[in-house]
Amino acid sequence: MRIRIGSEAAIGRLAGELIVRQLREKPDSVLGLATGSTALVVYREWVRLYREGRLRFAKARSFNLDEYVGLPSHHPQSYRAYMREHLFRHVDLPEDSAMIPDGTAADPEAECRRYEAAIEACGGIDWQLLGIGRNGHIGFNEPGPCLQANTHVAELAEETRKANARFFSSPNEVPHRAITVGMGAILKARRIVLVAIGEEKAAAVRDALAGPVTTWVPASFLQLHRDVTVLLDDGAASMLPDRLREQAARIGERGDAA
Ligand code: GLP
Repeated sequence: MRIRIGSEAAIGRLAGELIVRQLREKPDSVLGLATGSTALVVYREWVRLYREGRLRFAKARSFNLDEYVGLPSHHPQSYRAYMREHLFRHVDLPEDSAMIPDGTAADPEAECRRYEAAIEACGGIDWQLLGIGRNGHIGFNEPGPCLQANTHVAELAEETRKANARFFSSPNEVPHRAITVGMGAILKARRIVLVAIGEEKAAAVRDALAGPVTTWVPASFLQLHRDVTVLLDDGAASMLPDRLREQAARIGERGDAA
């Protein structure tokens, strides 16, 4: 696991370099994409690089991690709307190559099976972007006595609904369920980049990177993966134990420490 610490701007630049490198190496990469406020820092940079002509998505395909159950794709808080607003409408990733679970499917279980099969049919994820929930969730794989390997319908933790209420006009509007890619497809991704920003993520980051591997901190399973890069700002890194802090590198001004 490589840990890189820097300002929000430096994190953005490095996340930009990492995707440029990935798509140069494999233009038809299958990308795993995330939503949330952290991912905005990443997408802003990708859009900038695209405008500069340094990044092309034309041959790539993407699978988003999750979608709320019950929100139609035109709902402003649906993850389809988020992705359109912050990435898809700005870059050349063909919209029909950009998959997001359908939160309005009449049979959500069947939609989960379809989504899982579509990821498999593409050969799995090459490059997975992840944020982390304050409770250590990834995608919407919430802490609990067990985790699921496959795409499934998840009950959102109250803590998660509360954290995400900031995007909705009232907390009651936050859906109770979401379709999420499971731990299997995430851990099978060939490369993973986890990004965390802000002190409110510090405990989750500490538990994920330095605690025991446990279903109560889903992100802790990333410790078992061979190719994970973790990008943190000082707030998110503030509770890391010394042994991890010593092995972490500062992201250089030009974002080139990986
Ligand atoms: C959301 C998403 C996750 C995301 C996380 C953190 O609920 N399902 O994929 O990584 O929570 O979000 P944020 O970056 O807004 O803190």
